[in-house]
Amino acid sequence: MGVWKVSGGRKLYGDIRIQGSKNAVLPIMAAAIIAGCETELLNCPQLSDVEAAMAILRHLGCKAERDGDTVSIDSRGMNRTDIPHDLMREMRSSVIFLGAILARAHKAELSYPGGCELGARPIDLHLEALRTLGADISEQGGSLNCRDTGLKGARINLAFPSVGATENVMLAACGAAGETVITNAAKEPEIIDLAEFLRKLGASISGEGTSTITISGFTPKEAVGHRVMTDRIVSATALCCTAAAGGSVTLKGVVPAYFETVTAALEAMGCEIERKTNSVKITSEGKLHAPRPIVTRPYPGFPTDAQPLLMAASLKAAGTTVFTENIFENRYRHVAELTRLGADISVVGRVAVVTGVNELFGAPVTATDLRGGAALITAALGAKGLTTVYDTGHIVRGYDDFDKTLLNLGADISFDPETLASVV
Ligand code: EPZ
Repeated sequence: MGVWKVSGGRKLYGDIRIQGSKNAVLPIMAAAIIAGCETELLNCPQLSDVEAAMAILRHLGCKAERDGDTVSIDSRGMNRTDIPHDLMREMRSSVIFLGAILARAHKAELSYPGGCELGARPIDLHLEALRTLGADISEQGGSLNCRDTGLKGARINLAFPSVGATENVMLAACGAAGETVITNAAKEPEIIDLAEFLRKLGASISGEGTSTITISGFTPKEAVGHRVMTDRIVSATALCCTAAAGGSVTLKGVVPAYFETVTAALEAMGCEIERKTNSVKITSEGKLHAPRPIVTRPYPGFPTDAQPLLMAASLKAAGTTVFTENIFENRYRHVAELTRLGADISVVGRVAVVTGVNELFGAPVTATDLRGGAALITAALGAKGLTTVYDTGHIVRGYDDFDKTLLNLGADISFDPETLASVV
């Protein structure tokens, strides 16, 4: 709950270190229960989604403590296999715990993860794959009851390279007898980070980052340490904020290749980009021009999570920017809010057409989801006057100290966690 206030028109300058990756740390926290062991995770972002995962771990009987950016998990005392509705509803991606609980305890009861702002978010690919491994899963009354009749390794072909389904199979396969081969697997960098963690945990795993991943055994270790990868979508967000506001910002401690599709689009729009081994510098002083059409696809294609952010950066770019959203069926909810700032956007089905305008003007707007909310702040940085972003908790799910980061770069931004509480 809260209100972000942004007075636009100020350019951004400076260096920033990007937080650890939300979408890497969540499956890794689930993986920490596969073997009763002690895990120390470094570079863990301070996010409400991470807090929600820690609450699930504690509910399962594990210890989960945070000390700054380090989260320590002790899963030796795990004594439950259920995740109740109130914990599942906090974070629908909690379904990622299913494979890990099955691998550890051979049974699991989860409240069915609902949809979210982006759409129905089905889990049919997860369930089909786990059943192929031997899980007996019944769905009734809004819950999933799973017994594993002895998980056995299998060949699993995913109809779509689903990130979550790939991760769930990788986790469950660690508790299966024999080899599991996943084809048409997701290739996102977060899959690579999960595989590196599982290897440290004692898994024999190969092929991560390609469309074929093989898990051929698991000899659990007693203690594991891992540094979570940097968040590539937060990196893309910082680049888009600088493009929208103007200025010159250097991202430190990043893997430029992981968000190159976004960097290349901003470069095509007229931003000056300097890439080094672990840093990217963006400079945007003049007027931008529209990039070639943006089509979201599974990695290494243009990431769906960055679509709202690049859209926000394109609102004043000369010409027409065409977006096609292929991953989620309802990922243009931020458009109506952006038009309140004076943007010219029309949406037909999966296509959004942005016609660049000369000026944007601050206005009260409402965050519709995590990346849509970040897009409103991005656009506000380049708008004249005050923009107030009403937010029921979306942005803090994925951005750690977003306001402080932008404030340190020269933005005029503040976050009041209480205001909305008095308004609604
Ligand atoms: C992960 O979600 C990310 N979340 C999402 O980030 C990201 O947008 C998405 O991958 C795509 O890259 C986390 O990692 C926690 P998918 P996930 O399974 O795993 C359909 C953010 O902003 N599908 O690859 O849920 C699904 O409906 C979030 O950080 C099925 O039909 O994504 C969607 O249309 C948003 N059946 C498409 O596949 C299934 O069983 C992609 O979903 C599973 C998915």
